[in-house]
Amino acid sequence: MNIPRSISVLLTITAIALSACTSSKPGATTGTTPGGDIVGAVAIGVGVAQTSNVALLGQEQVAGAKIAEKYFNDNGGINGTPIKLVFQDTAGDEAGAINAFQTLITQNKVVGIVGPTLSQQAFGASPIADRAKVPVLAPSNTAKGIPQIGDFVARVSAPVSVVAPNSVKAALKLNPNIKKVAVFYAQNDAFNKSETEIFQKTVKDQKLDIVTVQKFQTTDTDFQSQATAALNLKPDLVIISGLAADGGNLVRQLRELGYKGIIIGGNGLNTSNVFAVCKALCDSVLIAQAYSPELPGAVNKAFRDAYFNQYKKEPPQFSAQAFTAVQVFVEALKEVDKTSKVTQKPLSDLRVALNQQLLKGKYTTPLGDISFTPEGEIVQKDFYVAQIKMNADGKDGKFAFLK
Ligand code: ALA
Repeated sequence: MNIPRSISVLLTITAIALSACTSSKPGATTGTTPGGDIVGAVAIGVGVAQTSNVALLGQEQVAGAKIAEKYFNDNGGINGTPIKLVFQDTAGDEAGAINAFQTLITQNKVVGIVGPTLSQQAFGASPIADRAKVPVLAPSNTAKGIPQIGDFVARVSAPVSVVAPNSVKAALKLNPNIKKVAVFYAQNDAFNKSETEIFQKTVKDQKLDIVTVQKFQTTDTDFQSQATAALNLKPDLVIISGLAADGGNLVRQLRELGYKGIIIGGNGLNTSNVFAVCKALCDSVLIAQAYSPELPGAVNKAFRDAYFNQYKKEPPQFSAQAFTAVQVFVEALKEVDKTSKVTQKPLSDLRVALNQQLLKGKYTTPLGDISFTPEGEIVQKDFYVAQIKMNADGKDGKFAFLK
């Protein structure tokens, strides 16, 4: 029988895909297909926001994860077995994250998942991975309660309780006369609700007055009524818990209305992608950091150099955390592989062994030396605060780290 070439190619691809789906092993032989795909590599899932407004954060995570994939494969992968990252776009909501996680777990047969981008998405999607006994490393979920989702959920993103207070202390150092604080937060988002609680507690602990708490939605673009109401109370510090697009617009509108005091942005604004939103008016916003490009050490240097070569700027926190999540999976898999080859182990057993191992390990990463509590909370030492410095043309800028 003569089968047209296009159909024969299709049949071959389907056969490969089917064998990948039915195999219970994460990969048995290594090699490269003519299309460049690594066969027999251990598949690690990355489920972050590649589309929607949340991609302002998620695209930095993709960049960091890809640098890690190349770096660790160039350095021997998992004792000789390469890793292959499988990306599924979560977009910006819970449904997208749930879909992406389900695809990664059941179709892509990944050993573990780096993701999702938002805590709001994690509370929907991570329980699914937990029930399927698939380890999740959250690269950016900083709300209270993430590691408590389940035994298979840990994070490399330090929580709001540890990170957020640093920026309030930095603001007081810049202006010890701050008394009146206006707080803004996105009320439709779990992380922002969690972060504002910490900001408000820190402000009270510092004996400052919260003159107003204004609420908005992460989908909002017009903040005139909230900004006007707050500025009428003459605050000398404004603290914003939002995401990049809404937060950036709020910064811009506060400045346009004449506010001259210090603005603190929370973790959701921690990306140079806000520069395009508030432009020159982003200047001087303070944002706490869980990563510094200056941290000494070989891994951070390799990561920083690779990022700089590709993007011609210093790496951001979200990229460093995504790199770190991939690193933790790779180094834990190397340990597991020493007692039982990862390519030979049934996938369900490998996932469980990986989860147990990753919680036990110590890792020297771009974030510094990290480990985990038995519950999966990151243990990290070093935190920083940076201030946005915009160029004169207002188009681009940088995060200047405060001493
Ligand atoms: N840190 C933000 C969150 O947890 C991105 O949702």
